[in-house]
Amino acid sequence: MTSQPNLKISILVMIALFVAGIVCYAVFSPTEPGEPVRLMFQNKAGKVLFKHSGHIEDYGYECIDCHHNLEDDDIYNCSECHEDTGDDDMPGRSDAFHLQCQGCHEDLGAGPVECNSCHAP
Ligand code: HEC
Ligand code: HEC
Ligand code: HEC
Ligand code: HEC
Repeated sequence: MTSQPNLKISILVMIALFVAGIVCYAVFSPTEPGEPVRLMFQNKAGKVLFKHSGHIEDYGYECIDCHHNLEDDDIYNCSECHEDTGDDDMPGRSDAFHLQCQGCHEDLGAGPVECNSCHAP
């Protein structure tokens, strides 16, 4: 048998956890649903961690700065258009990434440009 005081404490704990859950949800989910917070790319050169929401909230970029197709098309996945192998008019997936990621960092003189500052084993 659960004694009355124990039951009261359990209920209080449940309420506290419920409220904490709502607060955490409100505080830690500032991004739209479906918009990634961070992405981890895994390929033969190692893992690349990309802080997607950091680039938006901390560095102030707009969606279109990277998702350059958004005026005509609402596709967010680069490889829908940039296939594994590209050609002169259309960079392949990893060239598209290197041109965009490294390119912006180089232009600004900020952010990683060395291979192993993006690719970790
Ligand atoms: C600094 C560059 C950058 C900015 C700014 C940016 N994104 Fe992204 N986003 C990316 C990259 C790179 C990917 C990975 C795409 C892939 O895997 O093909 C991605 C992936 C996504 C995905 C998941 C796509 C999928 O299905 O795999 C969504 C959704 C998305 N972005 C939405 C947004 C929205 C909305 C904004 C603006 C509020 C935004 N992004 C701003 C670079 C950026
Ligand atoms: C709906 C199709 C589509 C999507 C999605 C798309 N691209 Fe592209 N991208 C193109 C086309 C077409 C070109 C070549 C013509 C041009 O420069 O616009 C291109 C060109 C580029 C270039 C070369 C630009 C230059 O100035 O040489 C880069 C870099 C690039 N894309 C990166 C990306 C990245 C990174 C993503 C995902 C965040 C992405 N693209 C998503 C269609 C797309
Ligand atoms: C339009 C410009 C732009 C593009 C595109 C961009 N970045 Fe950045 N990136 C920045 C800036 C600005 C910083 C902050 C540099 C600083 O404060 O030292 C940064 C920092 C970083 C950092 C180190 C700090 C952190 O936030 O983790 C990594 C790693 C990084 N970028 C990876 C990427 C990758 C991977 C891509 C492509 C998927 C990418 N970036 C595309 C502008 C860009
Ligand atoms: C700004 C971050 C960044 C820098 C700097 C960078 N890369 Fe990458 N690299 C990426 C991203 C993002 C991808 C795409 C990840 C994916 O699609 O899985 C990638 C993909 C690759 C791939 C996989 C290609 C494939 O077809 O699977 C290789 C290999 C690679 N990079 C080598 C290098 C080398 C070598 C350097 C230095 C000359 C370098 N990278 C510099 C971010 C970077």
